[in-house]
Amino acid sequence: MTRKPSSARGRTPAENLIHRLEKRTARLGVIGLGYVGLPLAVELAQAGFEVFGVDIDEARVRQLNQGKSYIQDVPTADLQALVRQGRFKASTDFADLKRCDTVNICVPTPLSKQRDPDVSYIVAAAGEVKKYLHKGMLVILESTTYPGTTDELVLPMLAETGLKVGKDFFLAFSPERVDPGNPQFNTRNIPKVVGGVTPTCTSAAVKLYQQRLDNVVPVSSTQVAEMVKLLENTFRSVNIGLVNELALMCKRMHIDVWEVISAAATKPFGFMPFYPGPGLGGHCIPIDPFYLSWKARASGFEARFIELAGHVNGHMPDHVVELVAEALNHRGKAIRGSKVLVLGVAYKANIDDVRESPSLDIMEKLRERGAKIEFCDPFVPSIRFAGGTMKSVPFTATSLRRFDCAVIATAHKAFRYSSVLAWSKAVVDTRNALKGKKSPKIVRL
Ligand SMILES: NC(=O)c1ccc[n+]([C@@H]2O[C@H](COP(=O)([O-])OP(=O)(O)OC[C@H]3O[C@@H](n4cnc5c(N)ncnc54)[C@H](O)[C@@H]3O)[C@@H](O)[C@H]2O)c1
Repeated sequence: MTRKPSSARGRTPAENLIHRLEKRTARLGVIGLGYVGLPLAVELAQAGFEVFGVDIDEARVRQLNQGKSYIQDVPTADLQALVRQGRFKASTDFADLKRCDTVNICVPTPLSKQRDPDVSYIVAAAGEVKKYLHKGMLVILESTTYPGTTDELVLPMLAETGLKVGKDFFLAFSPERVDPGNPQFNTRNIPKVVGGVTPTCTSAAVKLYQQRLDNVVPVSSTQVAEMVKLLENTFRSVNIGLVNELALMCKRMHIDVWEVISAAATKPFGFMPFYPGPGLGGHCIPIDPFYLSWKARASGFEARFIELAGHVNGHMPDHVVELVAEALNHRGKAIRGSKVLVLGVAYKANIDDVRESPSLDIMEKLRERGAKIEFCDPFVPSIRFAGGTMKSVPFTATSLRRFDCAVIATAHKAFRYSSVLAWSKAVVDTRNALKGKKSPKIVRL
């Protein structure tokens, strides 16, 4: 009986890559080890691969190589085990990419000062990949970006090497949908959408994710995959904008918007509840829709829903400031000179991420109007504020009683809301955290 060849001889680069993925002999690279990249790297390492992570942040790399996690959803114990087994290693040096069969790019995609896409991190990462691109390598962009980035920006850079996409190397886009702090859905069980530059690129990327993730959803192109993510986040932004507008409308009409939403949510079809709040926060919802509207504008199309939702949502911190003025006014006080405590500076409940948090905006606006501001957040020990560092005050009766008004900006579970009400002179509740409680001290959004 003739034995099948065990070497790469006779296989195309794509077949060889798939063989190495199936045998777990492939070496995998991840660029950018933040909220997206680190959980992905850990999942892949737990699938039995040797994973090499690269980040430009030296402190992060040092911490990771000591097995210490800085991402809430990645337990230090898991990371430690992988580092000890030699299955995960991090570096600031990209050179080891030359030994990698695959590389996932998970770098930030912020907005510029003019609120246009800033793809400089993608360009920098793709520039490094280009240096080490070799036959059989699979490159997947995961950073959220405008439709066309993979084909129009990354592909031309990699093609300058002379290697042919779909034949010598493979390029795909796969949006990341991770939801930090979500106890039910994580990198492994959130379905993964994948679109390649060519059908072979798609198959190779699907094969990689199938080694660990529960459900992989191939689509016909990189542009479709890029647009999927922007649709998802625009959907959230627009619906949040709608309920925020409804909340402002209900206030004028003396109707409880929270009661309206919860009753509407009893409809078993055709309705999905979204809730008003102090404004949008986080790395995604306030930013991603503007990647789409920018690209639409470049194609001569005005994305009106996106702009309108951005306008309504962007106004919410000002509205919260007005509610603080109302709460203080009930007690014959002005904003100027009053002590205001903001409860929660993370952009959403039960996590430690303050990126784009509306709490910071509210704090700044109240400060500008002369209030003396402090904050309390069990997840965030300190923040940069007003040119210095500000520490979280403890959640105790003594500290809460010092303030003229408390603003519930983030509904962390760790706050005892009956105590918030008992210990505060006035409370502005932007999250319906005091649901069911009646008191003249409460001003609700
Ligand atoms: N955080 C989320 O919940 C989330 C969810 C879905 C999608 N995304 C998207 O994923 C991407 C990454 O977001 P994140 O939240 O993980 O960001 P992050 O800031 O947590 O992590 C990014 C990491 O990339 C590193 N980095 C920056 N430039 C680099 C470079 N040139 N080479 C190597 N490393 C570099 C940074 O030091 C940082 O550690 C963004 O496009 C974001 O929109 C984020």
